[in-house]
Amino acid sequence: MGNLNCYAVVVPGLEAIAADELNALAAHEVKADACGVSFTATMDGLFRINLRSRICTRILIRLASFRAMSFPELYNKSKKVAWEQYIGANTSVSVRVSCSHSKLMHSGRAELALSDAIGDRLGFEAKDAANEQQILLRIDNNQCTISLDTSGERLDRRGYRIHSGKAPVRETIAAAILQWMEWQPDEPLLSPMCGSGTFAIEAAWMAQKRASGLEHVFPFTHWPLLKEKRWQRALDKARAMHAEQSARIFASELDAGILKQAQENAAQAGVADMITFQRLDARKMTVPDNDSAPGLIVCNPPYGDRVKSDVKSLYASLGDVFKQQFMGWRMAVMVPDPLCEKALGLKVRGRLKIKHGGKWVHVLRFREC
Ligand SMILES: C[S@@+](CC[C@H](N)C(=O)[O-])C[C@H]1O[C@@H](n2cnc3c(N)ncnc32)[C@H](O)[C@@H]1O
Repeated sequence: MGNLNCYAVVVPGLEAIAADELNALAAHEVKADACGVSFTATMDGLFRINLRSRICTRILIRLASFRAMSFPELYNKSKKVAWEQYIGANTSVSVRVSCSHSKLMHSGRAELALSDAIGDRLGFEAKDAANEQQILLRIDNNQCTISLDTSGERLDRRGYRIHSGKAPVRETIAAAILQWMEWQPDEPLLSPMCGSGTFAIEAAWMAQKRASGLEHVFPFTHWPLLKEKRWQRALDKARAMHAEQSARIFASELDAGILKQAQENAAQAGVADMITFQRLDARKMTVPDNDSAPGLIVCNPPYGDRVKSDVKSLYASLGDVFKQQFMGWRMAVMVPDPLCEKALGLKVRGRLKIKHGGKWVHVLRFREC
C-alpha cells in the first residue's frame, strides 16, 4: 500500500501547531486548513502519528472522493471502495454523515446508501461484533468524501485522567500550549491553579519522550489488511523512546481536594515523582528555588462565569506577581475575555486563539525582562 491521504482533526486554533508536529513526525505534504491538517503518510507513518501525536484529536484516512447527485449514485460509487481491507467479520460499522449545499441533503438516506454499499460489498453483516469502525461521509457541494477513522477514541483521552477537577483543559490543548511556548524539559515549569494537573502531566510525558498513545486502542489493529509485524515494530519503537527523566515541574492549587486529584492523575500517568505538588494560592507564588534559571509558567485560571469581579482581581494579582517575582521568565495564560486580559496588565507578546469548552479563548504569551 502506497501513501495514504490522511486528515488530522484538531481543536480549532491548533491547526498550525499540529502541522508542525506532523512535519516533525515525518508526515508528507502537510497542509493546515480551517478545520484540521491534511497530509500523506505510509501505513507505518500512520501508526507512528497515532501513537505519538500529542496535539491531534484523531486521524482519518480519506478513502474516496466523488460527485453524487442521487442516492443510487452514492451507493454505486461507495461500493467500489475496498471495504474488505478494513472491515472484518467481527467489526460493526458506524456511519456519520454531514450534508451541506448539496442535492443529497437527507443524512439518514445517505447513511443508509453508504451502509448498504458496505454491507453488499462485504457480503456479510457483523454479528456480536467486538470491534467498531467509524466511517465518515461528508457531502458538500455534491462532492462526497468518505473517510475512515483510524484513532477510535479521541487521542486526547490518554487514560491518566481519573479525576477531571473543574473545567479541565484537553490534554491536546495543554501539549500544544507547551509546544507553542517552546518549553524545554531542562527548564523549570510552574503550573499554578493546576486543577487536574494536565499541563504538568503533559510536560512530564514530553520530558520522558513517552508516546501519548501507548495505551490507546486503535481500530486499525482489527483491519484485515493490517501487517501485524509492522504494527508491533511501530509500537516497540514508540515504547523504546520512553526514558526515565528528572524534571523541575511544579504544580500548585488552592483547593486541597483538587490538588489530591491532580496527584492521583499524575500517579496514574506514572509521573507522580517528576512533579512537585503544593497547596498554594497562585497570588503568593515565587520562583521555586532561588538560584534556578528562568523557566515557564502555564496556567488556565478560572473564567469567573459566576463571580466576575473576583476573577478580574485574580488576573490582576497574577500579573503583579509575574512582574514582581519572575524576572526573565515566560508565561502563557488562557484568558476568556478582554477584561481579564486587561486586568493582567502585562505586555502581550503572542496570542493564540483556540476553542476550549465550546468557547473561543485566547492564550497569551508574556515575557518579563
Ligand atoms: C479552570 S481550572 C484549571 C483547570 C486545569 N488547567 C485542568 O486541566 O484541570 C482553575 C483552577 O484554579 C484553581 N484556583 C482558583 N483560584 C486559585 C488561586 N487563587 N490559587 C490557586 N488556585 C486557584 C481552582 O481551584 C481550579 O482548580
